[in-house]
Amino acid sequence: DWTTGNVIEEQVALIREQVGDRRAICGLSGGVDSAVAAALVQKAIGTQLTCVYVDHGLMRKGETEQVEKDFVAATGVQLKVVDAEERFLTALKGVSDPEEKRKIIGREFIRVFEQAQAEIIADEGPEVAFLVQGTLYPDVVESGGGTGTANIKSHHNVGGLPEDLEFQLIEPLRQLFKDEVRMVGQELGLPDEIVQRQPFPGPGLGIRIVGEVNKERLDLLREADAIAREELTAAGLDRDIWQCPVVLLADVRSVGVQGDGRTYGHPIVLRPVSSEDAMTADWSRLPYDVLAKISTRITNEVADVNRVVLDVTSKPPGTIEWE
Ligand code: XMP
Repeated sequence: DWTTGNVIEEQVALIREQVGDRRAICGLSGGVDSAVAAALVQKAIGTQLTCVYVDHGLMRKGETEQVEKDFVAATGVQLKVVDAEERFLTALKGVSDPEEKRKIIGREFIRVFEQAQAEIIADEGPEVAFLVQGTLYPDVVESGGGTGTANIKSHHNVGGLPEDLEFQLIEPLRQLFKDEVRMVGQELGLPDEIVQRQPFPGPGLGIRIVGEVNKERLDLLREADAIAREELTAAGLDRDIWQCPVVLLADVRSVGVQGDGRTYGHPIVLRPVSSEDAMTADWSRLPYDVLAKISTRITNEVADVNRVVLDVTSKPPGTIEWE
């Protein structure tokens, strides 16, 4: 019968058999799937696994530390962190078009990841033969069920995979749905902040700044986003909402009156939605007092923001993200 304990035991045995005395690489995105897949493979083969985390500088406040510290502490995994913030910001300079941003972020991600792979192979030798993927059952169905070394859907969460993939894949979550993955992660001892994490796009805050992306804007958005998340958590609303993008309208300026005078700043958009699968969504009817608290704190605590607006559009017609 189905228990998380049985799933883990079975996968650990399968992975050990598949890998033997060779080695594997796993990319961590900060999301649930890659974290649970990595934790499972780590349980099976220990230091024969090396995880790679590409820090593109587009993560939310505290998320990189969550991977670097909490995930490593919980699993004992061997982790290679690549600090690529400057590279990504340079590549994104002057770019406002959302699809262009996605392309650039995806492309840079592949390049950085490939370079990290090459370094690991240089260090550890040709026995590095496996790549771990956090593919779930719905992904398998969507992509026609193929597996092996090629013919896999380049999943946008991982930012796309190299064309000339020579690794064999390990996909320990192929038979699981999201809620089951969370249960397995919990059983493996991963912290709640990772296991219960809401969906977050691969391109990160890069597609939550309407306009050009730069460090100042990212820092500002990180602060506003952290406040919104803190208050939603404090109000016990995390399980009620699917996700809540916080968006900086960097190319829009709004007039405000703050302190001694008028300011000319930027609006922040709150986009809380409820959804089953992100294909359709409705705007969440959050309690007014929670919205008020978030608004007051953001305008008080985040310099250059003088207005907070609520997005009350369902999907369709509006997408969940603004870009
Ligand atoms: P939309 O905005 O299309 O979003 O309604 C649906 C879901 O997908 C996420 N999303 C992305 N995830 N790369 C990702 O990995 C992307 O480029 C991307 N764009 C949107 C979004 O957060 C929501 O959960």
